[in-house]
Amino acid sequence: MVDLKAQYEKIGPEIDGVIKSVLESAAFIKGPDVKLFEEELQRYMGVRHVISCANGTDALHLAMMVLGLKPGDEVITTNFTFIATVEVVALLGLKLVLADPDPGTFNISVDSIRKAITPRTKAIVPVHLFGQCADMENIMKIAKEHDLYVIEDAAQATGADYIFGDGYVKKAGTIGHIGTTSFFPSKNLGCYGDGGALYTNDDNFATKLRSIANHGMKVRYHYADIGVNSRLDTLQAAILRVKLKYLSEFNTARKNVADFYDEAFAGCIELITPERSGFSTHIFHQYTLKVSNGKRDELKNYLESLKIPTMVYYPGPLHTQEAYRNMGYGENDFPVTTVLCKEVLSLPMHPDMEQDQLDYITSSIIKFFDKTA
Ligand SMILES: Cc1ncc(COP(=O)(O)O)c(C=O)c1O
Repeated sequence: MVDLKAQYEKIGPEIDGVIKSVLESAAFIKGPDVKLFEEELQRYMGVRHVISCANGTDALHLAMMVLGLKPGDEVITTNFTFIATVEVVALLGLKLVLADPDPGTFNISVDSIRKAITPRTKAIVPVHLFGQCADMENIMKIAKEHDLYVIEDAAQATGADYIFGDGYVKKAGTIGHIGTTSFFPSKNLGCYGDGGALYTNDDNFATKLRSIANHGMKVRYHYADIGVNSRLDTLQAAILRVKLKYLSEFNTARKNVADFYDEAFAGCIELITPERSGFSTHIFHQYTLKVSNGKRDELKNYLESLKIPTMVYYPGPLHTQEAYRNMGYGENDFPVTTVLCKEVLSLPMHPDMEQDQLDYITSSIIKFFDKTA
């Protein structure tokens, strides 16, 4: 699905150089690269503060801690996301309130957010799924009306632009009160291990987040907050500094792959190519098709037989997972999520795809539909 070896072949010498210099400096925790990476990402994102941490799940966890959410407070998020988004809500004893996505963009639907709001709602967590922003302008409007916090889970959308109605542009993750991201290796900006970060324009949140991510310590061995240990290590920060320089180029290469797929599948009525919304660019963390007529699994198996990898993100609605079944939802409460889980199929997507790979994938898929028509 991704080819990190091909990427390493391209940028290997630069990566090796920075790894060597961190090893030689022995500044493994909070070394200079951590601060430099935060500053460089801050400039790229156009946000006042970037606070790095150990991974994207921790970033969400830290965001909910800093907002002072209390057990029982309700947090609305999408039922169609990676588990990290919801598990931190459950871990903090907050009440998880799920909402259906929009069937076209896969992102949380504004109507379903409105329906899920109660007097106990405290926050909304939109996820910019597969690399395209949720409808942030309307989400921020709802948040203002109801005095709610917005935490953007931008783990899959590093570099995507949100375009406001008046033409103003902001990066995914910098619009809500806090944004979070992951540097998991396969992400558009990925390191060579685990890593994550938070974005905020609020000085107080930033100060407190830095403290909480480091044991609640503001001054050495003096603890102002109850915290955790969640730090981006220097090696990962040094790697990310190299990779950040290539992010725009890599995101453009992904978009070119997506354009090729779109065009190749244009005549295939059983395939629905990813919808691109007018208010966001798409950085194609995933290229996710919808396969109608119940042929998704058959197509997946066929491609597997040809050694073409595909993935189903995500195979089951969260409210039906064993750990989350006691939330009081009925099996059929989320019709859009349920259908998407049966129809979606993600194709290989990365910046180093070769034309012969693309030709093989697209012609194999078209052949499948010709055969099964
Ligand atoms: C939408 C989303 N949120 C959160 C995470 C968690 O990030 P991490 O794996 O770095 O903890 C991921 C991915 O891994 C993700 O895709």
